[in-house]
Amino acid sequence: MRKILVAGNWKMHGSKAMVNGLLKGLLAAPDSERAELAVFPPFPYLALAQSLLSGSSIAWGAQTLNPVAQGAHTGEVSAPMLLDTGCRYVLVGHSERRSLYGESDADVAERFAAALAAGLEPVLCVGETLEEREQGRTEQVVERQLQAVLERCGVDGFRRAIVAYEPVWAIGTGKTATPDQAQAVHAFIRDKFASRDDIIAGQLRILYGGSVNGSNAADLFAREDIDGGLVGGASLKAEDFLTIRDAA
Ligand code: PGA
Repeated sequence: MRKILVAGNWKMHGSKAMVNGLLKGLLAAPDSERAELAVFPPFPYLALAQSLLSGSSIAWGAQTLNPVAQGAHTGEVSAPMLLDTGCRYVLVGHSERRSLYGESDADVAERFAAALAAGLEPVLCVGETLEEREQGRTEQVVERQLQAVLERCGVDGFRRAIVAYEPVWAIGTGKTATPDQAQAVHAFIRDKFASRDDIIAGQLRILYGGSVNGSNAADLFAREDIDGGLVGGASLKAEDFLTIRDAA
């Protein structure tokens, strides 16, 4: 049985006051039997997340990492540092990293490998642009993005990893993929893994991301291959984020 995961990608939002308020709001709610929570604050707030969330059921992670463990890389943060701040997860290959910061499929695969090597659970983000969808190339794009990581880390690399399908046209636009559209791509992704390893495919959590909110989450999470959500905007208020969790 795959447990639903509702993950909050805060992107470049937050302040000490906001992190305190938001996390205390999440901690005040009773745990859910059906869904787990994780938050992805910006780097400066990971230590604060660690001090507030340690011992709770809420996990935390970072939004990216440098694949090198340490050294002369001014401005960068490594996987061992994330582990040291108690991170369980790290996002890799979010579409904003790919489009704004030039991360290639190969760069994403290196980051995924570095996360695994450090003992973090990478959350690999994949998804097509509107143009790619309109050209009927959704599966081809998602397959290419997965393939780069499969070639680097093998199917075994996904024993302790998560995939997030995030159509770029749905991120931050208020335009969600329909449950049918999302389910179709999720099933496609699970099939890719099933052709390599049935057990890993069956255990792999595949999250949907792109304008998930309290109104659309229940229909998405009800679908067979949708194992939770990667939530941006609606993860910044405890009440909204908990409404999504409780839709599971
Ligand atoms: P959104 O962002 O929920 O604001 O669309 C999702 C994401 O980018 O992970």
